[in-house]
Amino acid sequence: MKKMEQMYEGKAKKVFATDDPGLVLVDYKDDATAFNGLKKGTIAGKGAINNRVTNHLMKLLEKEGVPTHFVEELSDRETLVRRVSIVPLEVIVRNIAAGSLSKRLGLPEGTKLSKTVLEFCYKDDELGDPMVNRYHIAAMGWATEEEMDLICRYSLKVNDVLTAYLRDLNIELIDFKLEFGKTADGTIVLADEISPDTCRFWDSTTHEKLDKDRFRRDLGGVEDAYHEIMKRLMGE
Ligand code: TMP
Ligand code: ASP
Repeated sequence: MKKMEQMYEGKAKKVFATDDPGLVLVDYKDDATAFNGLKKGTIAGKGAINNRVTNHLMKLLEKEGVPTHFVEELSDRETLVRRVSIVPLEVIVRNIAAGSLSKRLGLPEGTKLSKTVLEFCYKDDELGDPMVNRYHIAAMGWATEEEMDLICRYSLKVNDVLTAYLRDLNIELIDFKLEFGKTADGTIVLADEISPDTCRFWDSTTHEKLDKDRFRRDLGGVEDAYHEIMKRLMGE
């Protein structure tokens, strides 16, 4: 497998073509942004941690029946994944109110939701990733009703698997963001990353934040939080 030209550079990752048209290489960066790129910084070691944490969780999810884009970890920061066209949606799964939901509905952070909440945002930085519903998604042709049924089913399954897995590590899964892709043959698979950048992780006992909110909110101890998550998940 040969790393070839860069196809795309996002805020936290670069994507490279390979000599296999069905595979691309993802390269994780230490760059961090928040508030749609308004706040910028670096989190030392983040790229390697997010790469390893994502792959660890993707493997667990595959084993539990959720198809993912994961193929092979190549190095500390680089992973081979299936080439997909990304469904242009961020799927947000919430168990406990925090962040934008707390703000929008006036719910104190930490309020348990009586039922898991799914939200969809249209991936468009210029528009600020606006929240949309299934009518918008169908009308705009971003995904079919059948694809959305599958995406919702997989998202709830990811929530069940990760919530139980993290509970044993004394981590509460507050909320998280998923992205899905479509392979050349039209199969929907889980794509992108699952990391402290894209999840809210609280220590179950102390409720200490162990995720990117430490960067977003200038709470300090950002690197320590990322390391703590890697240590609890992977023992190092
Ligand atoms: P929110 O409360 O700001 O809407 O975030 C909900 C979850 O989604 C939280 O775990 C962080 C994650 N998230 C992303 O991964 N990327 C984003 O651009 C945003 C806004 C949130
Ligand atoms: N997607 C957001 C941004 O770029 C990051 C976040 O808040 O997680 O700026």
